[in-house]
Amino acid sequence: MKITKTNYALKESEVTEESLYLDRRQFIKKLGYGTVLLGTSIITPSLAKKSTKSLKEELTDYKSITQYNNFYEFGTNKLAPYENAHTLKTTPWNIIVEGECEKPGNYSLEKILKGMTIEERIYRFRCVEGWSMVIPWNGFSLASLLKRFQPTSKAKYVYFETLHDPENMPNQQQDHLEWPYIEGLRIDEAMNPLTLLATGLYGKDLPNQNGAPLRLVVPWKYGFKSIKSIAKIRFLETQLESSWQKANKVEYGFYSNVNPNVNHPRWSQSRERRIGKYRKRKTLMFNGYAEEVAHLYKGMDLKQNY
Ligand code: MTE
Repeated sequence: MKITKTNYALKESEVTEESLYLDRRQFIKKLGYGTVLLGTSIITPSLAKKSTKSLKEELTDYKSITQYNNFYEFGTNKLAPYENAHTLKTTPWNIIVEGECEKPGNYSLEKILKGMTIEERIYRFRCVEGWSMVIPWNGFSLASLLKRFQPTSKAKYVYFETLHDPENMPNQQQDHLEWPYIEGLRIDEAMNPLTLLATGLYGKDLPNQNGAPLRLVVPWKYGFKSIKSIAKIRFLETQLESSWQKANKVEYGFYSNVNPNVNHPRWSQSRERRIGKYRKRKTLMFNGYAEEVAHLYKGMDLKQNY
């Protein structure tokens, strides 16, 4: 899905190379707005006020973000999604909404995007494998979309499914995982203002290998919760098993919160390697977002609920 400048993006963002992009960010920082918001073609202080807290960490370069990926539908090595995901046709794109809500249906993404303000949010991204990145996403909060479908009081969970299209996602012909890829959140996790639906990164449309045209970003959870190329949203009363739980229940739990105190059965999760940096760093509880999300897990044993 192309995001047209009239509707969604900054003019500059469509032509910006990384260096120019960074210059623009510097310029905006000098204006004192912190995080840049891409909503209309003018960056206004009133929009900027809605910004989430800006991270003072160096951004990971565009090449690493777009050429070191996990997207098993296109292959299991890190470069495979970059090499193969161009086969995925992302326009037109529809999202089926089902389950415990007042407004189920088959929605065109174009229509969905028309009502949304696209903003920029810079998030730490931590993969279960021990590497991390800092990514300037463009998108909108998941809550703003889910509310439109009017979840009922029975909607305790929300699940997402990636497109199932073995012809255009060739690895869906292999059984690395059970397809389609599925991931879920508790409804209060989904409604947390940090939870993002991304449509772009670095001010450009989301590349296919990063989950075009729409992918989830849950910054306090390990990367596999951030499901790509979403084609279905389901509101449910009960918990389901996600793709990685089905593949290996011992290694992957439902919550998958970044937690330096709970190890993966085969390795420690206490440190991480930021892509592009040599030295490892300590992993932060909830990936550094404890202030915003720790209350969601009050009273829970996070060693049991991993
Ligand atoms: N979504 C789908 N549909 N298929 C996948 O294989 N991999 C997950 C997640 N979302 C995956 C997916 C994993 S393991 C990670 S770490 C992140 O996507 C990687 O996102 P990135 O490639 O944009 O860094």
